[in-house]
Amino acid sequence: MATRVRWLGHSALLVESEGRSVLIDPFLTGNPSAAVSADEVSPNLILISHGHGDHVGDAVAIAKRTGATVASNYEISLWLQEPQQGVPAEKVQGLQHGGSFLFDNAVRVKLTLAFHGSALPDGSNGGNPCGFVLTLPDGLRIYDAADTALFGDMALIGEAGIDLAILPIGDYYTMGPEDAVRAVKLLKPRFVLPIHYNTFPPITQDAAAWAERVKAETSAQPVVLQPGEWFTVEGR
Ligand code: NI
Ligand code: MN
Repeated sequence: MATRVRWLGHSALLVESEGRSVLIDPFLTGNPSAAVSADEVSPNLILISHGHGDHVGDAVAIAKRTGATVASNYEISLWLQEPQQGVPAEKVQGLQHGGSFLFDNAVRVKLTLAFHGSALPDGSNGGNPCGFVLTLPDGLRIYDAADTALFGDMALIGEAGIDLAILPIGDYYTMGPEDAVRAVKLLKPRFVLPIHYNTFPPITQDAAAWAERVKAETSAQPVVLQPGEWFTVEGR
């Protein structure tokens, strides 16, 4: 089956490729734009980009219910295994930036830089925030920048050849529309999907206007979804 991506609202995403399902930043409970509830998702793998509550979200509950593996930075991986959270050690992958692992002999997950904070909801040290490059069984590559400012090394991430870039455009907590257009110019993806906007008043943005700018100023094709909608990534 082809690779497809479902935006679940805010930064929550579901990536499906050849029978594997990857859930990223599953903030569903308490998310005013959530397209599904936490008990409606059954991923094989959960990725957490940083410790903030609007990204860790329901990860612990979903992991414990489904037995999914959870990957994050090392500090968050330790927190997940604490008795309070209780995710089994054999279900946790604790990486660091620049490192990758191969999930289920099918999906490679690499941690990238992100410029942001990462304190966990209970005040624990959540290490440093990250983004993800996923290389899927069909060879397609997806970059989820997660919460970050613009940074010039996005050009290095783009050198790998990004089929779909997923970028925050909300401003206030992350880069805004202007810097997200500059990010597209550095990354040179085939498609770009905006996230992390319109969930809360400070991050209200006009995604359609942003998409027009992407079309006019870059070679990428913008993909604007409503929460709950899918996008199938065409092969090269
Ligand atoms: Ni954050
Ligand atoms: Mn956030």
